[in-house]
Amino acid sequence: MPFRDDFYWGCATSAHQIEGAAFEDGKGLSVWDRFSHTPGKILEDHTADVACDHYHRMEEDVRLMGELGMQAYRFSVCWPRILPEGTGKINRRGLDFYSRLIDALLECGIRPIITLHHWDYPQALADKGGWLNPDSPRWFADFAALCAGSFGDRARDFITINEPQCLIALGYGNGAHAPGLRLPCSFTVPMSHNVLLAHGLAVQALRANAKGCLVGYAPTGNACIPATETDEDIEAARKAYFSTPDGDLWAFTSAWWSDPVVLGRYPADGLEHFVQYLPARWQDDLPAIAQKLDFYCQNIYNGTLVRKADSEAGYEIVRKPAGTPQTAMGWYVMPQALYWGPKFLYERYRLPFVISENGMADTDTVCLDGKVHDPSRIDYMHRYLAAYRRAAESGVDARGYLAWSFMDNFEWSDGYSRRFGLVYVDYRTQQRIPKDSALWYRDVIAHNGANL
Ligand code: FCB
Repeated sequence: MPFRDDFYWGCATSAHQIEGAAFEDGKGLSVWDRFSHTPGKILEDHTADVACDHYHRMEEDVRLMGELGMQAYRFSVCWPRILPEGTGKINRRGLDFYSRLIDALLECGIRPIITLHHWDYPQALADKGGWLNPDSPRWFADFAALCAGSFGDRARDFITINEPQCLIALGYGNGAHAPGLRLPCSFTVPMSHNVLLAHGLAVQALRANAKGCLVGYAPTGNACIPATETDEDIEAARKAYFSTPDGDLWAFTSAWWSDPVVLGRYPADGLEHFVQYLPARWQDDLPAIAQKLDFYCQNIYNGTLVRKADSEAGYEIVRKPAGTPQTAMGWYVMPQALYWGPKFLYERYRLPFVISENGMADTDTVCLDGKVHDPSRIDYMHRYLAAYRRAAESGVDARGYLAWSFMDNFEWSDGYSRRFGLVYVDYRTQQRIPKDSALWYRDVIAHNGANL
């Protein structure tokens, strides 16, 4: 069997992208609520005020997940729904919603995997300087402790932070995401340090408040694929994957965000460029940042071809040949990213590995027969999963796969124009229609991937 017997197959969402009920039941504002109400920030000025109305349809959605054979469901908790001001006063109705969600999942035999932070940061804390504030790691740890204490009796799996890269690079670097700031490295680098410390303190808080919990981390990164499978190109791709270049791209890299967490140090090339921006006594924080993890996740959608070069760097990016397939996001379809990504990451970090997001956006429509036919998504998933299977066969300790996403949802600054779901959502009626890919995936799950 390429996939372990206890390998889990499931899907993922995030709170802001599906819940709606943005101003209900005592929820506080998140930076995304503010951002999407700022004209011109989101395609067609869409907002997530209602989104998939999951907050009111949670039981129905979980039932559908069960019918589709899901074994695990990764969701995120909206911090200001639980702590409207980010710290202090607790909103019991917020806690109660996630508590009921966990119970509903367990009733259907679905393993809850809780992401503590998937970008919907409390506006009240952003007003106090957000991730630049030296207290920000502690704020997050306190929130983690509350979640662990409230949910840890039933949910075992926790992920601290989703894609810290995009959080900082898009939210505070180029301003494409909330809160929409464009700040130089002198701001974003110290923020990144606080995010990393927040992760570490949250791991401690989770373990202290939920005995026996399993803790992971879900960064992304530009998966590098050797242009040919020769030793030279493989080495070039490995080098590129873990390099931290100067310039705006640093925030999207892998090593900057994972080396401190897993290996207890910043990458040397990253320090060379950015050490002057790190807070004084940054070294003192490294032991707290490098907490033992139970599993290491990665969100992978695409990849970059790399080959050996006779330059100082030793590698170069290979341009995509004309006609390389792309998804509706404009992201290239690069299935081998799900072989080389897990392989390189496992080689470096040696932790049980989970794909925490993978999938594609398409322009799905309801056909005359009332169904949603999405052969491209089936083909995409099939190719990527075959590559992931190869990674598992070659020794990567693969523990799970979570498709992005359970249903179509609010795709951040692209609004509702990009459909990533296995389940189609009609946003006017809130009707859910499982796409062909959902039925295909149900079959893959039933066979534990043996039919790929
Ligand atoms: C990832 C995000 C997720 C979703 C997918 C398409 O970067 O984590 O919320 O938007 O991309």
